[in-house]
Amino acid sequence: MVPPRLSVQQIPTYSPGTSKAGAVKLSSNENPYGPHPAALAALQLVAPAVSRYPDQFSSKLRSALAGHLDIQEERIIIGNGSDELMAIAAGTFLNTKEESLAAEHTFSQYHSVTSLYDGSPVKVPMRHGAHDPDAFRRFLGDRTRIVWLCNPNNPTGTAMAPDAIEDLLEYIPRQILVVLDEAYVDYVPEGRRPPTRELVDQYENLLVLRTFSKAYGLAGLRVGYGFGCAELIEALYRVKPPFNVSSVAEAAAAAALEDPSYVRDCVARNAEERARLSKGLSQLGFTPYPSAANFVCIEAGMEAHLFAAQLMDAGYAVRPLESFGLPEAVRITVGKPEDTEGLLTAIAALHEAPARSTTKR
Ligand SMILES: Cc1ncc(COP(=O)(O)O)c(C=O)c1O
Repeated sequence: MVPPRLSVQQIPTYSPGTSKAGAVKLSSNENPYGPHPAALAALQLVAPAVSRYPDQFSSKLRSALAGHLDIQEERIIIGNGSDELMAIAAGTFLNTKEESLAAEHTFSQYHSVTSLYDGSPVKVPMRHGAHDPDAFRRFLGDRTRIVWLCNPNNPTGTAMAPDAIEDLLEYIPRQILVVLDEAYVDYVPEGRRPPTRELVDQYENLLVLRTFSKAYGLAGLRVGYGFGCAELIEALYRVKPPFNVSSVAEAAAAAALEDPSYVRDCVARNAEERARLSKGLSQLGFTPYPSAANFVCIEAGMEAHLFAAQLMDAGYAVRPLESFGLPEAVRITVGKPEDTEGLLTAIAALHEAPARSTTKR
């Protein structure tokens, strides 16, 4: 067998949220209401042209995003999901043996792409499931090249205070890249969102990542984007694979941007169900982390995969969080009203089962 590179030997295969036929999938933080109908129409319209390569710069989408964000096109890069942009960022800026800092319990790709490029992933301790800015300050060192901030954080759903993000940006030396992953930013209540559009004008070392996979309901098409200062984005383009975003994905994402009312509506429904789910879980004796996203995280009081397996038997797929370093925690995507009801009933039934341990967070 050909041995993988030493650094690759340390990278675990990504463990995705799973489901099974007939179950309600609440394990991957997808939009339960699906994509905007205009996005579906747009992809059908361009489908006959798929014998041609897509536009290497995804110019139509870049231009739509430039209008949406009020920023110049050359300050935007489109990725095959924001996952790809994380790998591109590490490939562009990380030298061998340099460190990247990310919270201890967060999206695994930050650590994986660091290892991929022979860097050292450093796990920064958290406070009650939230990013701890003081700990990030303490862990910065001579070898730090990238700081990853996941806001809101996957899997806990906690959001950093906008001031805390600005203070941290002010503190971090400019030769260190800060990647602010805003995959779930649409779900953050107004007033608690950091002014990221303004921050990228102020901090030349800031790269903001966003995605069409969550609130826009286009996870299967794989489209994400990044924005920052022009020089930073130009460097990323040197590493970006050609034709990384398909023509159908580009067209659908651009169409989805045209009508913001759809996302607003999905976000409002999510807020209502998130509150109902969190309250219901509290009434069942759990202590959900305060979530600003489209999922809720609890300590199950037993091995997470066993709790998830019992819920799967009851017809609900949730995400056990062993792979996030949280052996007893599960993450539950906020679904439709009937999903909330059914899930809470299923958990209440487990609760009454004698085999269940009673320790909770
Ligand atoms: C925090 C975070 N960032 C990025 C992603 C990946 O997004 P994309 O589908 O755009 O690759 C996810 C997906 O779950 C995520 O949770």
